Amino acid sequence: MAHLDDLIATDIHAYLRAQENKSYLRFITCGSVDDGKSTLIGRLLYDSKLIYEDQLATIEKDSKKSGTQGDKIDLALLVDGLAAEREQGITIDVAYRFFSTEKRKFIVADTPGHVQYTRNMATGASTADVAVLLIDARYGVQEQTRRHAFIASLVGIRHVVVAVNKMDLLNFDQRTFNEIDASFREFASDLDFDEITCIPMSALDGDNVITPSKKTGWYSGPTLLSYLETADVESRSLDAPFRLPVQWVNRPNLDFRGFSGTIASGKIAVGDDVIVSPSGKRSTVKEIVTFDGNRKLARQDMAITLTLNDEIDISRGDVICKIDSPAEQADQFQAHVIWMAEQKLYPGREYLLKTTNKTVPVKVSKLKHRIDINDFSRVSANTLDLNEIGIVTMSLSAPIAFDPYSENRKTGAFILIDRQSHETIGAGMLDFSLRRAKNVVWQDQDVNKAARSEQKNQKPALLWFTGLSGSGKSTIANLVDKRLMDMGRHAYTLDGDNVRHGLNRDLNFSKADRIENIRRIGEVAKLMVDAGLITMASFISPYRAERQMARELLEEGEFIEIYVDTPLEVAESRDVKGLYARARAGEIKNFTGIDSEYQPPEEPEIVVDTVKMSAEDAADLVIAYLSERGFFNVDGA
Ligand code: ADX
Repeated sequence: MAHLDDLIATDIHAYLRAQENKSYLRFITCGSVDDGKSTLIGRLLYDSKLIYEDQLATIEKDSKKSGTQGDKIDLALLVDGLAAEREQGITIDVAYRFFSTEKRKFIVADTPGHVQYTRNMATGASTADVAVLLIDARYGVQEQTRRHAFIASLVGIRHVVVAVNKMDLLNFDQRTFNEIDASFREFASDLDFDEITCIPMSALDGDNVITPSKKTGWYSGPTLLSYLETADVESRSLDAPFRLPVQWVNRPNLDFRGFSGTIASGKIAVGDDVIVSPSGKRSTVKEIVTFDGNRKLARQDMAITLTLNDEIDISRGDVICKIDSPAEQADQFQAHVIWMAEQKLYPGREYLLKTTNKTVPVKVSKLKHRIDINDFSRVSANTLDLNEIGIVTMSLSAPIAFDPYSENRKTGAFILIDRQSHETIGAGMLDFSLRRAKNVVWQDQDVNKAARSEQKNQKPALLWFTGLSGSGKSTIANLVDKRLMDMGRHAYTLDGDNVRHGLNRDLNFSKADRIENIRRIGEVAKLMVDAGLITMASFISPYRAERQMARELLEEGEFIEIYVDTPLEVAESRDVKGLYARARAGEIKNFTGIDSEYQPPEEPEIVVDTVKMSAEDAADLVIAYLSERGFFNVDGA
């Protein structure tokens, strides 16, 4: 290695001790490649001699070959080469680099400045203490700068360095620098920064990166490195309330039961009183066990195992807190969401929400508005697109322990995951709970589903007919309904055209409205099944995700998906309501099969091929299915 203390060779233990006692600073660099971001990071690593010699040799060679800087070493090659390492999921496209100086250790998150910047930046920035925003001095504050500053502020960064780069191209003109400084401060006054530091720089030549530049005699502020070495970012996080999200319960034998995880914030000592969220159980800390033996005290970022003086029930996903500052718990929130997927966010659709240690199903109940990142204005919206930021209300299927993001960036953050692909599709910040979970209790009724179905001598079910418009869903459902009536069964049919006249008269045929349509039908059908009825739902229901959601509302075996499989040509040639002709003529927009998609079921319980089978035979098939599976004659009568 070309750098670092001789201690490594002479006294490795002293070296390690020195490293351990240094504080950490995490920062993120933002700006497009043209602003000189890679060069700047390269310069930091290079000038503080933090590059491995062999790497350096390669770069010198490559610079001559493919660099853009003539005979000078092209430092951008160093960073761009490393940026190739990509991990899956949320860390995609963010490269973390580690380096240290005499005074501090650093982790820099480098995010490429291409179009997916919002996603990458939010990812890299969510743990950063400082954001370094690069500005090309020739162009001043750009839209991109504003976006980056906004996201930095949104994810809780309070210290910003504005690196006014390429000053060499402007002969280090003080006036230009002052103008940029003033215009940045003016627009950033709406953002929540504690400290803004503007530095005139040339990353290429190293001016004010590590050493003060002789060419900026008029500038008396810090260089970038001296700022990073001295920025006061620590006090806040250690004063934060203690939070230990329990990752696993460590029980090697009957005599030991420990709760393991990484301290998200604050500190804890042996003897401290603790409370567990969400159960509210209490105890005191007996031991703090770590990889290097027991300790009296532990603090943020340490991986520990706690043992307690009382045998209380704690499971993975709980959060251990100090008794005087417990975490909140709730299942309804307002939150900021940064959307990261090509497919849109739809209110009503079910996703998975993952916090530091718990994953629960979640629905966005309402998209309140989108934030226009250019002027921070609120824009009404039905969906969120890639890179958009919205304010939503969410409903979780189980309560979680949390803190508002403004108070704790670890226990207040979450990501959203697609249920099918398991990809990360969004990230967010919990603003506040909408009501406390303990107030939401499902009303237990004495007369329950079992009693109601026994009274009717049948097992309730939901027969879900899905297929194109004109496929024959309602015709078949009608026949099934009649036969059930003749058999003395208790049934009811919910039908697209009818429900859209009443309950769902406010909904149209956009993707968002169809999702909401099916969500409501699912809920209503669930109540009917709860009432003991054999319920039929006849809706195009074009999306797999919503049919799956309806399925999950019910108990195993109750949801029977019936795919009324009629090819588009056949449905269109029947055109019972004349709607296909109008859709083809452009009079009706978003018509399923024409300019709106239909996702056929993958594993339906019943498939009806209406080309080969009559509606009567299809109805018989459904009745036979129910009869064979014991939905009638529950008591054998
Ligand atoms: S769904 O897609 O939200 O499940 P739903 O079953 O409620 O649709 O309503 C479909 C019925 O609405 C169709 O059978 C048709 O009569 C009528 N309709 C009117 N406009 C459209 C459209 N753009 N796409 C599909 N159906 C439409």
